[in-house]
Amino acid sequence: MPGHEVLAAVSSGNGHSATNVIAGPATSDFVVVANRLPVHPADPPSRAWQPSPGGLAPALRGVVTAKDGVWVGWTGEIGPRDAPASYEQIRLRSVHLTQRDYEEFYLGFSNATLWPLYHDAVRTPTFHRDWFHAYRDVNRRFAESAAQVASFGGTVWVHDYQLQMVPKMLRELRPDLKIGFFLHIPFPPQELFLQLPWRHAILDGLLGADLVGFQVPGAASNFSRLARRLSGARGTTSSIEYDDRTVTVGAFPISIDSAHFVERASAPEVIARARQLRADLGDPEVVLLGVDRLDYTKGIDHRIRAVAELFEDGTLHTSKHVMVQVAVPSREEDAHYASERRHLEQIVSEVNGDHALVGQPAIHYLHQSMPMDELVAMYLAADVMVVTPFRDGMNLVAKEYVACRTDLSGALVLSEFAGAAAELKGAYSVNPHDLEGMKEAIRRAISVSPREGRARMLRMRRTVLRHDVHAWASSFLGALGRSAVRPQVTLGPRPALPSAGTASG
Ligand code: G6P
Repeated sequence: MPGHEVLAAVSSGNGHSATNVIAGPATSDFVVVANRLPVHPADPPSRAWQPSPGGLAPALRGVVTAKDGVWVGWTGEIGPRDAPASYEQIRLRSVHLTQRDYEEFYLGFSNATLWPLYHDAVRTPTFHRDWFHAYRDVNRRFAESAAQVASFGGTVWVHDYQLQMVPKMLRELRPDLKIGFFLHIPFPPQELFLQLPWRHAILDGLLGADLVGFQVPGAASNFSRLARRLSGARGTTSSIEYDDRTVTVGAFPISIDSAHFVERASAPEVIARARQLRADLGDPEVVLLGVDRLDYTKGIDHRIRAVAELFEDGTLHTSKHVMVQVAVPSREEDAHYASERRHLEQIVSEVNGDHALVGQPAIHYLHQSMPMDELVAMYLAADVMVVTPFRDGMNLVAKEYVACRTDLSGALVLSEFAGAAAELKGAYSVNPHDLEGMKEAIRRAISVSPREGRARMLRMRRTVLRHDVHAWASSFLGALGRSAVRPQVTLGPRPALPSAGTASG
């Protein structure tokens, strides 16, 4: 219950032990821990706080406010500035990152080791011991913050690949808590995971949770198999015995706030903006759309190559067809991302050089983030949405597009390697490595009969409207409630303090 006083014993990041007594109002029965807070500072000079676009924040806002929860995370800014104590009714607790943490924990281990490794190693992962040590230290700080704000016996939900060691560290600090972990990105097959020099530490970290959730069943079974092979755990894919506890494992495919997308897609000003966008594009017969973070896992280059070949073979013609590619800037200080951007911009300019007419590019390329209403207007303006990642945990853009197609028009071309492919059976499924296959899928999507197109969209919309983000959160939290069999812990003697460095691997 919020306000219940709790004793949280924590060890500080520099290895010196400290005990903090946290007063009631700062604690909560429900704590979300994610690398990013749901707010971030605007660009200088304003630096005012603004809601973070996309991702987890809109997904979890409702759950956190309903439970008067606390969100523990990083502001996205380097240095000691705290986010406000609350924002849009969500209580916030900041974890600070130094320049070094940013380089070694965020850009390094999270995004240059784990991110490529977990995405089929589409770029070679880099392994550095110093990066791992930074990851472990920053994970400990997140665990300590969560330990400080969680009420006795409360629930803590830890998110994503940046924080895989938090569950175990948190359990050592606060054995009274129910701890859930959800991985938003893929969990790799054994052959790839085994490369990781710190594989035991990562698995043990995750096994600290009562419930470990993944986007798809394949990821859950990859994890359970590895836990049995490397950590000596016993059991099945869905239930593991480890360290005298039961860890439940399962697939909980994430979704979107579908009703909110439907509402925005029905707003007269958004519909008018979509019409204006089509007019600005020259009122073409067909608008193809791609919307992605600019990331080498998204397969944007192959998609543009496929479209270019369709312009070359005459299937597409600039007088009738146009593509819009939105590439949202991301992780720009990483060399792989910087070179991916240069690569894409070169391809786009080649295609336009070959196929544009004066005032009519073949591909409109926007390297910018977009307010929600503008994005929804783009979805409404697009006849064919092309989502072709080489590997993707889920891909919410695909679900957003489907939710916005209230009149059942539109078609979705979707990579079979996105988690969303398991649910969106009305899509044209493609192997993003297969250019001919992608071209054929785009051809079919463009020329589908209205009747078949509507049937496909209806099928997908049923899934997305029924299984929305609220259903996702309650199914995860319901499973966590059922799975957490907690030891009898009292407020008497404090939990043992872990000594500095014990959670390493
Ligand atoms: C993916 C990850 C999230 C991450 C987001 C944006 O969706 O699963 O955890 O927050 O990308 O990446 P960034 O590095 O900017 O946080």
